[in-house]
Parts: sequence; structure tokens; C-alpha cells
Amino acid sequence: MRETVERLREEALAAVAAAARPEELEALRVRYLGRKGELTRILRGLGQVPPEERPALGALANRAREEVEAAVASRLQSLREEEAAKRLSAEAVDVTLPGVGWPVGQRHIVHQVRREIEEFFLHLGFSIAEGPEVELDYFNFEALNIPRGHPAREAQDTFFLTDELLLRTHTSPVQIRVMRSLSPRLPVRVICPGRVYRRDTPDPSHLPSFHQIEALAVDRGVTFGDLRGTLELFARTIFGPATRVRFRPSYFPFTEPSAEVDVSCMCGGKGCGVCGGAGWVEILGAGMVHPRVLEHGGYDPEEVSGYALGLGVERTAMLRHGIDDMRLFLQNDVRFLRQFA
Ligand code: DAH
Repeated sequence: MRETVERLREEALAAVAAAARPEELEALRVRYLGRKGELTRILRGLGQVPPEERPALGALANRAREEVEAAVASRLQSLREEEAAKRLSAEAVDVTLPGVGWPVGQRHIVHQVRREIEEFFLHLGFSIAEGPEVELDYFNFEALNIPRGHPAREAQDTFFLTDELLLRTHTSPVQIRVMRSLSPRLPVRVICPGRVYRRDTPDPSHLPSFHQIEALAVDRGVTFGDLRGTLELFARTIFGPATRVRFRPSYFPFTEPSAEVDVSCMCGGKGCGVCGGAGWVEILGAGMVHPRVLEHGGYDPEEVSGYALGLGVERTAMLRHGIDDMRLFLQNDVRFLRQFA
């Protein structure tokens, strides 16, 4: 009997030590220690053993049982640890590997300048209005007093979609749309930013699609002096406090009188690529809203007056930053764009 216990003990311990998976351990536990297990059976059968051998054999069998139990528990523990270690090393992340760069984006320079101009006018109490890029001939030309036969209405300058529909060639049509939606309320004080289209071949100073911002102020008693004051403040805000403004008489069908407005060049007139040595660069067209345009907008030119102006956003950005080729804005070369971060 003693030998049987010894043999079972050794056999069980060896098997436990060799077990490679928790399920095998469980099977061994059942086989030796379970209710019908081999060691259990010996302990249960102690009654048949002669009384004088019972205590020693019982103690031996109990010790064997405890040893095997402990061996199963500790083997199970180390199997679990091994498994965890294996998982950890399989899933390990090498934090010293170089990471993937996530470049931070930024607003396009045209958008930045557009925002700056918008902020300027918002501070003066203007609000922002938008109009459609696909526009009716009526709003783009007719209501702006651009007569039939005017060169701007020629097919070589304008993208016509149908006889009546076109891609707007300027943001001025939004003037009419805004006045019609507000009339007869006063004052009208809006800016209209957006994309415009012209049938131009791209070159350093032309793009078939670019951005304009229109400003329109209509009220009782608006004067050319208001326009001038607004533009002087505008020029100093956008181009720097030392900037001066110059008005040259000009012609636009939708304003009377009309002016082209120049700002003093940042070179101070010493002569540079931007102003060609003239010391002045043209930035926008402006004027007093033509009576017929006010009428198309639903206002009485005998009662109210207004000024309007239109400027190119790309052009403004070029003057501000000394950019000499408009096509750069569309090429989206990050080496160019990053300079304006
Ligand atoms: N619409 C003109 C253009 O695209 C710019 C312009 C000139 C707008 C004079 C105006 C203005 O509002 O008064 O060339």
C-alpha cells in the first residue's frame, strides 16, 4: 500500500510538471484527486487497512494528496503567467519606433485674406451676404446697367451656360439681390464675398476663377466722402498704418461717379516688381451706386444714395505678400502655402 501511494504521488507530480495546458491539469486533478480519483480511493479505503498501519498510511496519503494539489495549483499559476507573458510580447508596441507624422493643416492664404477683409467690414457694421455662382444674365449685367453690346457681355469674356444663365463674372449682382430682399429697409450695409469666373487664360495676373469681395452701403445721405473714409481706413488696416489711398476717375456702368483706387506701394515708391516703380498699385473699383441700379434694387434714387466697391481677393493677397504670380494660389504646392502659416 505504501508503495502504491509513493508510486501514485510520483506519477502524479511528474504528469503535473509535464502538463502544458490548463485543461490537462484539470484532467490530472480529476484523475488523482477527484471523487473517484486514485489517491482519493486509497484514503477512502483506509478502513480496510489493519488498524496499526492506518495512521502512518493515512498521513502518507494525505501528504501526497496535498502535495499533488499544491503542484497542480502552482503549475496552473505558472502556465497562466507564461501565457500572459506570451501575449504581452506578441502584442508589444515598440514605443521607440519613429511615429507617423500628422501634418497640421492651415487656411489657404486666399481664405486668410478674405477673412481679414470680412473682419474689417464686420467691425464697421456690415453683414455678409452671398449669392449664386450660377447667375442670371439679368442680375449679372442688366440690373447693373451694363447695356447690351458692352464688351463684358461678349461670349469671349463670360462663361455662358444658356442664353439667360452664366457663371457670374463679378460679385456685383449680389448688390441687386440684397437690395431686393431688404427694400425698403435702411440702411443697407453688406459685403458679398465669393468666387467669380471669366474666360481668361491663366497667366501671372489672370485666372479663369478667382475671388472678389463687394461692399455696398445704401442710406439717406451717403456721400463719396463716406466711401473715401471707409477706403482709407481699409487700406491702413489691410496694408499697414502708413498706407495712403489715391482715387482716379474711372468708368463702371453701375456707379456714377466711378473711381479706381490705388494704395501706396510697400516699396515706398522706390520702385519694385509689384508697382513697377510707380509707387502706387490699383486695388479696387468703387463709386456711387448708379440711380438705375438703385431702382433695380427697389430703392428711390431721389431719396437714398449709396456707395459700392469691388476688390479682388487674390490681388489683395499678392500686394500684401509680394506674390508675383496668381497661378501659385491654385497650384497648391505646400512649399508655397506653408509660408503663410
Ligand atoms: N464689378 C467690378 C469688376 O468686377 C468691380 C467693381 C467696380 C465693383 C466698381 C463695384 C464698383 O462695386 O463700384 O470689375
